[in-house]
Amino acid sequence: MKSELEKLKQEFEAVMETITDRAALEQAKNEFLGRKGRLKMLLEQVAKLAGEERKTIGQLANEVKEGLEAAYRYKEHALNEAHTSTQAEREWIDITEPGHAPEEGHLHLTSQAIEEITDIFSRVGFTSVRAPEIDWDYYVFESLNMPKDHPARDDWETFFVEAPEGKKGKMVLTPHTSNSQVRQMELVKPPIRMININRTYRRQIDITHIPMFHQFEGLMIDKGVAVIHLKGVLDYFARTFFGPDRRTRLRPHHFRFTEPSFEVDISCGVCGGDLSKNCRLCKSGWLELGGAGMVHPRVLEAGGLDPKEYSGFAFGWGVERTLMMREGIKIDDIRVLYKNDLRFVRQF
Ligand code: PHE
Repeated sequence: MKSELEKLKQEFEAVMETITDRAALEQAKNEFLGRKGRLKMLLEQVAKLAGEERKTIGQLANEVKEGLEAAYRYKEHALNEAHTSTQAEREWIDITEPGHAPEEGHLHLTSQAIEEITDIFSRVGFTSVRAPEIDWDYYVFESLNMPKDHPARDDWETFFVEAPEGKKGKMVLTPHTSNSQVRQMELVKPPIRMININRTYRRQIDITHIPMFHQFEGLMIDKGVAVIHLKGVLDYFARTFFGPDRRTRLRPHHFRFTEPSFEVDISCGVCGGDLSKNCRLCKSGWLELGGAGMVHPRVLEAGGLDPKEYSGFAFGWGVERTLMMREGIKIDDIRVLYKNDLRFVRQF
């Protein structure tokens, strides 16, 4: 009995020596000190002894029990200590080390231009609105005096959406921002002065065209609005966006939704319109910006307005195109704008 108790003590101590984690400690505790553990078994036998033997062996058994428990607590404590010190090691930080400043980005060139254009027009009272980017055929074509199957529609190489037709026709990815015209007339009564900048889509891709681009649409409707007001606003924009020496020119053109219609040109920033300089950029002294005109009476009617009472002008240009004509910005392929090449984007 005595030697068995001593053997148990030695074995337990040897096991404690090898233990390095809590799981193993827990297991050893169960095996030796548990309710059905080895110590318990021995103690039950000790209880069966009689007389003097029971007294001496009982005392030894008690000592062994206390020794085992102490060895266990000691190991438990040691493991706890080790745990907190490795945790401290892991979570240690040097608060005197210089910080890492997060890299600061900036708006994309196109977004910058959109903000600037919005701001320029807001200064002369044009409110920024947002017409849908995917819209009904009615707002994109029909209400703009381009009935179904009209050949003029072909100029807008339109993506149609495969979706059920609604009361206002098919759904299309807007190929221009002019869908905002009748929408705005339905929304508010004149005077109207709005600017709608949005994404537009056409089936086209080459160095001057991309399938997704942006346009800005201006619309002003009031009593007595005439071409001279259009010219004034365009000149104001050209001077503010491109520089004080720039002028605009209206060239006769044709759109179904304006009458008269114009193509707007801006004087070339490189040669200043001096033909003797044989400018390679403009060839003629002028650069083409985009379309404009006086809102067609049928379009006013579609917007619920009486053409005898109200008149207005509209213009619609590409944001990227306008941007690329800016002096100092030398982008000879529009597609680089959307290649997501940071080396390009970071230059601006
Ligand atoms: N929507 C025309 C285009 O995309 C431009 C335009 C707008 C012309 C407004 C006249 C008036 O080409």
